[in-house]
This record gives sequence, C-alpha cells and structure tokens, in this order.
Amino acid sequence: MTEDITAVARAISEAESTVAFTGAGISTASGIPDFRSEGGIWDRYDPSEFHYSKFKADPAAFWEKRLELYDEIYGEEIRPNSAHEALAALEEAGHLDTVITQNVDGLHAAAGSSVIEIHGNGQRVACESCDRTAPLDTAREQIENGTLPPECPDCGGVLKPDVVLFGEQLPRVALQQAKRLARDADVLLAVGSSLTVEPAASLPRIATRKGATLAIVNLEETPVSERAEFDIRGDVANVLPAIRDAVESV
Ligand code: APR
Repeated sequence: MTEDITAVARAISEAESTVAFTGAGISTASGIPDFRSEGGIWDRYDPSEFHYSKFKADPAAFWEKRLELYDEIYGEEIRPNSAHEALAALEEAGHLDTVITQNVDGLHAAAGSSVIEIHGNGQRVACESCDRTAPLDTAREQIENGTLPPECPDCGGVLKPDVVLFGEQLPRVALQQAKRLARDADVLLAVGSSLTVEPAASLPRIATRKGATLAIVNLEETPVSERAEFDIRGDVANVLPAIRDAVESV
C-alpha cells in the first residue's frame, strides 16, 4: 500500500487537475454509517420508504420517517474527520481542484473544501412549488409545532429535504459541473464509495475515458476497480492523510 500511496501522491503533485469524488465511506469515521456496508443505513431502513413517489403520496408520513432516520444518524453534533481535512488541505495547498460528493452531510464544506453536492444537502429543505430553500430547522420547528408536512414560508408549498431521493433527477447544473470536471481531470481520486449508484458511478469512467489516472481508496472492491491504476484497499481516515503527507514531501 505504501508504494501505491507514494505513486498516487506523485501523480497528484504532477497533475494540472486533480478532483476527488467521495461517497458515504468518507463520513463513517465521523460516526455516520454508510448505506451498503453491514449495519449500514439500508440495513436499518427500507430504501423504498425514501422514494420520491412515497414523498409525493404522503409527505407527512415521509417527514416522520425522514426525521427518525436523520435523528438516529446525525443525532449528536457531526464533525469532519481526518479524511475530509486531508482533502481540504490538498485543496489549500493547490493540489486539488474540488470535491464532488454524493454525501448530503455537509462535512466537506465544514472542513473547508469547495464542493459540488450532486445529491443535495440534508441540512437544507426546498419548496416543491417555488424552489425556495431554507435550513432544515425551518421544517423541524414547524413539525414540532404541529405543521406536518412543513410549508414554504414564502408560498405555502410543501417543503422537501433538499436531497435527491430515489426516483428524482440529480441537480442538472451540479451534475454537468461534475461531468466536466471528471472529463478535464488528470487524476480522479474516488474515495469511500461503492460506485454502484448511477449516474454518479459513471464519473470515474468519464475520467478514465479521457485518460485520467483513477485512484480508488475504499475498504472493499468496486465495480470500477479494474479500471483503476491504483486500487488502495484501506481506511480513508488513514490513507488520505498519508496521501496528503506524501504529496507535501514529493
Ligand atoms: N474507509 C474506506 N472505505 C470505507 C470506509 C472507510 N472508513 N467506510 C466505508 N467504506 C466503503 C464501504 O466499503 C463501501 O464500499 O465506502 C463504501 C460506501 O458505499 P455506500 O454505502 O454504497 O455509499 P455510497 O457509495 O456513497 O452510496 C451512493 O447511494 O443510497 C444512495 O444516495 C445514496 O449517495 C448515496 C448513494
């Protein structure tokens, strides 16, 4: 693994453009379970309960289930971990352009990274009618005062968590930005994702098709691993700081 870390660090230090692409595995060290590992979120909750059609059919019941999941997962204060901080440090040092993330926990921004959130952000809500966004607490306060489903303060429309639900399209501008960054990258660092959910999982393929070096850091093999020049099997909380240190010493 050490040789791979050194080689990835050299590729990053020589690259014009390096982009990170992250999944839930980067936040497990912050106490947030991922989705598909044993004991993950989809072991505890039925993903079909969080389909957009369920929200449209009964937004009140959806919100009750969503807040139950939210409070279980994000119960206590969540903070960025060493992996988020390593990516922010690489960007600060000019070795990383940005982070494209599937995560909705807001931890990359909290660590200081510039981030493209292709699945939205769970700390925000959005109005189904006028698209206005507001902090999640706007909805939480209304629900606690008996307004279920929560309503848009501007137009009275139904508020929805500002995350991409199964059955919904990804935010068009964010996805276009992510695809352009993947196309232009010299190095794509895919971190903590099972790389199984489209269209996000296509980003590493877009990068390698244009000749990028793909470096994967993940506890388990992924469907894209055979395309990767580096497939580092390890804990991101250890591997990313090691890559950051190695880049600084190249
Ligand atoms: N270090 C390295 N890898 C880790 C760590 C860790 N500390 N913890 C977990 N992993 C790996 C797991 O082995 C797994 O392969 O991270 C991956 C997480 O995969 P998923 O749980 O499928 O999460 P993700 O890839 O982000 O899911 C994509 O699916 O349900 C939807 O919208 C949801 O954004 C999510 C999308």
